[in-house]
Parts: sequence; structure tokens; C-alpha cells
Amino acid sequence: MAQLASLGGNKFVSGNRMVKEFSWPPRDEQTAELLKEVYMSGKWSFNSEAEQAFENDFAQYHGAKYGIFMVNGTTTLECALTALGCGKGDEVIVPALTWMATAIAASYVGAIPVFVDVEPTTLCMDPAKLEAAITPRTKAIIPVHVYGSMADLDKILQIADAHNIPVIEDCAHMHGGFWNGRGVGSWGKIGSFSFQQSKTMSSGEGGICITNDPELADKLYRLKHIGYSRGLAQGQAQKAPEGLLCHNYRGTAFQAVILHQQLKALPGLIKTYSENMNYLTEKIKDIPGVRVQSPGRLASPQAYYSFHLIFDGGEFNDIPRWLISKICYDEGVNIGNGTHGAVYKHNLFNLNREKGEYRIAGGDSCPVCETVCGRTLGWFHQTLMYRENMDIISDVLHKVAENMDEVRELAKDWK
Ligand SMILES: Cc1ncc(COP(=O)(O)O)c(C=O)c1O
Repeated sequence: MAQLASLGGNKFVSGNRMVKEFSWPPRDEQTAELLKEVYMSGKWSFNSEAEQAFENDFAQYHGAKYGIFMVNGTTTLECALTALGCGKGDEVIVPALTWMATAIAASYVGAIPVFVDVEPTTLCMDPAKLEAAITPRTKAIIPVHVYGSMADLDKILQIADAHNIPVIEDCAHMHGGFWNGRGVGSWGKIGSFSFQQSKTMSSGEGGICITNDPELADKLYRLKHIGYSRGLAQGQAQKAPEGLLCHNYRGTAFQAVILHQQLKALPGLIKTYSENMNYLTEKIKDIPGVRVQSPGRLASPQAYYSFHLIFDGGEFNDIPRWLISKICYDEGVNIGNGTHGAVYKHNLFNLNREKGEYRIAGGDSCPVCETVCGRTLGWFHQTLMYRENMDIISDVLHKVAENMDEVRELAKDWK
């Protein structure tokens, strides 16, 4: 049995046997040429052809008729809420585990985010806890397809429909994912995506709303384009949209060109990600106490923004997560990307509690979220690019598992 590197043994990974990171975001000459063409054309914004082409193809890919491209995936959520009539004093139900944008978008429109606990398996909003969170003030529900899983859309939509509450899907982590044969984002009234630097599709910054509802599509467009419907120029006569405070949240043609190119490569990319994730899941299933974040119940293909291992059973239960990470690091394997943690603990909601008002459904914490976040480690999606990475991760975890007596001793030392 090889001794752990943390205790003076040889590093498991040396030389070129390292976890390879594909440099993200992707770049290529063909896209650079297309960017040059747009640059020379002078059609840089204002509903340019490049934007329209991307909006249409992206929406269609996910099973929606309309796409409305914006500056980022927070403004898309904000506009989605406004378009659905959500405002001051209303409540918006969000999962406790997500990036803070999902919840802060509700605050931006004057509503109160209400946090619901997550499932221990998928880490997504727990449908079993959703109904109890609904009040007469609930104006929208925002499930998040988080990291490498999809929220249970069937169960969530069934509850939402029974109460006549619209659903906005936050798909910032789920580009190209399909639930039960149709693209994410097209199941709820509106789907919202982010194209920020680290995302599976990225233009540095950017976001899009997709929808099948023409009225919502028009509202969303007007919200991001200072009140004008698509195709109308500033100054052209149009009745001001009633009660809507509109913005300039326009993206540019440059971003659209980059994203359009990435959309073409997306099916191949997430196929590779899924195959490698399945391979890893199979390889580590004999290690007691570690499991992978379960993909969505009807997810196929499952897309990945990141992938996570949960060390919450058997022998690992008493080992702090940071120590597992450190032991792997000492072996030469960088494993560090935890989860966001419970959103209601984020500074934005606590520096100025009065302004960052929120409610936690059914109590003052979401115990599943807090527990599971404390046991989770992972990697960003691009690590899934290489099959060799899966072998390295599996092998190093097997080495750790074979040395659990030493790991427990180390844990004692650090207590
Ligand atoms: C789940 C989720 N929703 C929304 C957003 C907001 O996207 P953006 O950073 O483009 O505003 C993010 C960004 O990381 C996210 O992870």
C-alpha cells in the first residue's frame, strides 16, 4: 500500500501525469476572422444580424421560439421577473444553493427572495419542500439547474401550475441540457442563461432569456432596449410600455458571434463531458462514502458547468472537506471547487440586512444545503474534457481510500 504524500510518501501524480486543464474560454482562428468581419461591418449592436442569428438558433436549440440577448445572466433574471409582473412586496421562491444572482434579482425588483432547501442528491430545489413555501404573495418560482444536475421540472411545474405561479428556469449552468427530450429553459415561462467568462458557453459577459410566449418576448426586448420593440429605432413612435421601467441592457454583435460559434460545438462538448462523467462515476463507485452529484432524473443529455463529489458517507463522514482537498493536493491533484454555499449567508444579504431582506421557508436555515455544501468538492467543466483526468481523479481517491487509518490520524492532528 503506497503511503500518503501528506505523510512523506511519494506523490501520486508526478511529471506529466497531471490533471489537465483546457484553457477556458475557447479561442480559434475562424471565430477571430468572423469577429473581424463584424468589426469591419460597423454593425456592432442595435439588433444586428449577428445578434438575431444567435438569438434564434440558441432559442430553437432549447425548444423555444424567442431569444432576447442581454448584458449578463443577472439582468436576464431581473427582466424575467419584471416581465412577469413581479415587484415590490412580492415573494420569489429560489433554492438555497445557487449563485447569489438568482436571489438578488428578486431584491433588485423590490421583491423578497424566499429560500427553499435542496435535495441531497441533485443539490437542486427540493420539490417536496416547495409547496409549503408558497404564500399569497408568491409571484414567481426560480428553480436552478445547478452545476451538473437539473431541478425536477415535472414536479416543480406541477406544483407551480396548481397555484398558477410562473416558473423562471435559471439555466446559467445548463447550456444545451435537455430534460425529458426538450431543452432546459423552455419548460418554464422564461429560461435565463449566463455567458460569463467561466460558463460552458462564454462571451466574457452576456446572458439570454428564452421563451415561447410572444407577449413576454416583446416585454423582455423592451425591457432591455429602453422601451422599444424589436426593429423600432429610438424616436420611432411607440406607446410607452405601461408600468415598465426599461433599461439599456443590450449585448453586442461581437459577443453574439463568439457564442454562435460555440453553439455549433456545444453538442459535441457536452457529449464528451457526459461520457467522461459517467466513466468517473463508474470508476469510483466502489469507494465507500463518496458519491457524485446525481444528474437530473430525466436529464439527457446532462450538461455540466462543474462536477462535484460529495464526501458524506461511511469513512469520510468525519474527515473535514478541506483535509480531503489538501491530501489530494499533496498527491499532486488539485481538487478545490466547492459549492457556492447557502445563498442567504452571502454578504449581499447580510451587510445591510434591511435592504437585503429575505425569508427562509420553514425556519431559519436550510439544513440539507448547509450540510451537503460542507461535504462537497469538485472541478469546473473543462476538467471533463479529458478521459485521463478521470483516471487520475479515480486513482488518487482510491489511494486516499486505501489509507483511511492515516487519514483519520491526520484529521485528529488538525482538530
Ligand atoms: C446560477 C447562476 N445564476 C445567475 C448567474 C448570473 O450570471 P452573470 O454572472 O452573467 O450575471 C450566475 C453566474 O455565475 C449563476 O451561476
